[in-house]
Amino acid sequence: MFSTRLAQVALSLVSVSGVVLGASAPLRRATTCNGFSELCDKSFGNVSFVGAHDSYAVGTDNLAVNQDYDVTQQLNDGIRMLQLQVHNEDSTLQLCHTSCSLFNGGTLADYLTKVKSWMDSNTEDVLSILIVNIDNVAPSEYATVFESAGLDTLSYSPSSSPLAATDWPTLGEMIDGGTRLVTFLDNQADTTSVSYLIDEFSNIWETAYDVTDTTFDCEVNRTNGDSSTQMYLINHFLDKILLGSPVPNVDKANETNAESGEGSLGVQVDTCTSQYGRAPNFMLVDFYEYGGGSVFQVAADINGVTYDSSSIATPKDGSSSNSSDSAAPLMHMSGGAPWFALGAALTGAVMIV
Ligand SMILES: *[C@@H]1O[C@H](CO)[C@@H](O)[C@H](O)[C@H]1NC(C)=O
Ligand SMILES: *[C@@H]1O[C@H](CO)[C@@H](O)[C@H](O)[C@H]1NC(C)=O
Ligand SMILES: *[C@@H]1O[C@H](CO)[C@@H](O)[C@H](O)[C@H]1NC(C)=O
Ligand SMILES: *[C@@H]1O[C@H](CO)[C@@H](O)[C@H](O)[C@H]1NC(C)=O
Repeated sequence: MFSTRLAQVALSLVSVSGVVLGASAPLRRATTCNGFSELCDKSFGNVSFVGAHDSYAVGTDNLAVNQDYDVTQQLNDGIRMLQLQVHNEDSTLQLCHTSCSLFNGGTLADYLTKVKSWMDSNTEDVLSILIVNIDNVAPSEYATVFESAGLDTLSYSPSSSPLAATDWPTLGEMIDGGTRLVTFLDNQADTTSVSYLIDEFSNIWETAYDVTDTTFDCEVNRTNGDSSTQMYLINHFLDKILLGSPVPNVDKANETNAESGEGSLGVQVDTCTSQYGRAPNFMLVDFYEYGGGSVFQVAADINGVTYDSSSIATPKDGSSSNSSDSAAPLMHMSGGAPWFALGAALTGAVMIV
């Protein structure tokens, strides 16, 4: 009798603790991660993401732009890394290209507000922001903008930094934890000051950028860590030289973004994968929609998932003049002589494209 009673107490304790455990576990287990159930159990460091190089540099008829569509459309179409060049312009963080008089894509605050809004309506996606901190702004100044956009609480803070590619949590864990935004700073990162602004080059190595040769080699070009264990990023956008400065080679964007053929993303991925035994984590491209979704197909092949290209945006016709476009400032410089203006603006400047 006594032992039966004890057994009942023990049983009810088990069921009570079962309930308690259930309540403290995540309320929801992500079933789809970045569009695919197969990705939920994969480490962030073992997934390949397509990134928009100079995501904010949007427009037509402007030699300083790298994208046709704004960040919201980029994200809708599947871009999952947003690369930004941030300038400190009169104490405001502005998204400019090389200089704010050449191209000004608005404030970082406005841009991040769009990102937040997209993340709020897409709750099972992990995305990354890569900041080129060209004016060496302190992390605390970025934090102010992230907080006002409401992105600080969505940000992932690593338990330690750097992390090897194999040490990152799974996409499912990041989504369940509500920390789905991974932000890297190319310089000044200090996780003791702002835990979610992560140092890029101790965590990621990069191939060369500003490439004008369709070979797109896979050599380690920039790193501040152990490239054999870090995640890696390939800069797969082709430039051409105009008046001594590299500018995006949009005429070749279809070939550059393609799955196969000379200078294609697919070929560079194959080269890098055979060279290092693992595929790139991040692939930065210009005019991502050229190729009709080929860049996302390349990523899907790496990730072992099935890509559906049916709803991707179509390339804009950059040859039609449109001065009402948001990227028009360059057109208005020097009374509508944009090429000359670009050359003049870039003389002696470091063109970071
Ligand atoms: C990085 O790439 C650039 C452009 O190809 C090259 O000039 C530079 O020497 C490379 N640096 C390293 C460290 O490989
Ligand atoms: C890119 O490919 C699309 C679809 O095939 C085609 O309509 C467009 O003219 C091409 N653009 C260039 C610049 O080659
Ligand atoms: C993920 O890991 C597999 C197995 O090691 C590897 O083949 C693949 O290239 C990796 N992908 C990335 C993006 O690291
Ligand atoms: C120019 O841009 C405006 C605003 O984006 C758009 O409404 C208009 O249709 C465009 N015109 C041409 C000729 O592309």
